[in-house]
Amino acid sequence: MNQRDALALKERERRFREHDQPYGAHAAATRSRWSNFIEMHSVVSGLRLAGNSRLIDIGGADGRLLDRVRACNATCTLIGTDFAVNPLRGLMEKPLNAAGVCADMCALPMRDGSVSHAAAVQVLQQIPGRALREQALRSVHAALAPRGRFVALVLNQVTWRTAVPNGKEGRLNANLHVYLYDQHDLREELTAAGFSVRSIVGVNNLPGRIADRLGLLGAWIDMAITAWIRPLSIRKGRYLRAVCTKN
Ligand SMILES: C[S@@+](CC[C@H](N)C(=O)[O-])C[C@H]1O[C@@H](n2cnc3c(N)ncnc32)[C@H](O)[C@@H]1O
Repeated sequence: MNQRDALALKERERRFREHDQPYGAHAAATRSRWSNFIEMHSVVSGLRLAGNSRLIDIGGADGRLLDRVRACNATCTLIGTDFAVNPLRGLMEKPLNAAGVCADMCALPMRDGSVSHAAAVQVLQQIPGRALREQALRSVHAALAPRGRFVALVLNQVTWRTAVPNGKEGRLNANLHVYLYDQHDLREELTAAGFSVRSIVGVNNLPGRIADRLGLLGAWIDMAITAWIRPLSIRKGRYLRAVCTKN
C-alpha cells in the first residue's frame, strides 16, 4: 500500500471515530462481561505495573483498559490517548484521575523516555500499511523509558478471516480498515521497531457464546489455554497479546 492511500485510510477512520460510539461502551454493550474481563486481564497481567508506574494507553478510547488498571492499582499515573477527541470525552467523564491526550499513535507527543509502561489494545490492526504501523511502534518505543514494558493486543488472523476480502489487510466496512496479524508478522513489526519480544500468546480462545454460557468456569478454561497450551491459543485466540520490553 502506498503512503498516500495509507494516510487517507487513517484519516477516514479518525473522522469515523469522531461520530461513532466509543469502543469501550460498544464492547460493554455487545460482548459478555467475561470476554471483556479475559481480554483486559491479559493486558494488565502482561504490563506488571507498580505503584509508581506511568502508563500510556494508546488508542485507548473511553478508557476500557484504564478502568481495569485503576481497579487494581490506585496510585500509578494514567494517560489515555486517542487520535479522535470524541472517544476521549468518555474517558474524561470517568473518575479515574487519568489525563486524556488527543494524539496519533504514529507521532506520539510524549517526551522520549517519559513513560514506564505502554499498552495498545486493538489499535495496531487499524493502522493501514506496514510502514505506518512500524512508524507507530517506533513512536511508542521512543516514549518508553529504558527497560519499559509495552503490551500490544491485536486481532488474530483466524476469527475474522472472512471479514477481509483481500487477504490479510483490507476493509472491515466502509469506514474501517483492518490488518489481521499472525504471530510472525507481529513479532517482525515489533522487532523492527526496536522492541525485545518477551512472549506472544492467544487470548479469548473460546467462542463467545460458549464462554458466556460457562461464566467463571469459561474464563478459567480460556485463561488456562492461554497460559498452558500456547500453540492452541495462538491458533484459536481471537486476539494475540505481545509483551515487549525496550532494551
Ligand atoms: C478498536 S478501538 C479500541 C479502543 C480501546 N483500546 C479498547 O480496547 O477499548 C480502536 C481505537 O484506536 C483509535 N485509533 C485508531 N488508529 C489510531 C491512531 N493512529 N492513533 C491513535 N488512536 C488510534 C480509534 O480512534 C479507536 O478509539
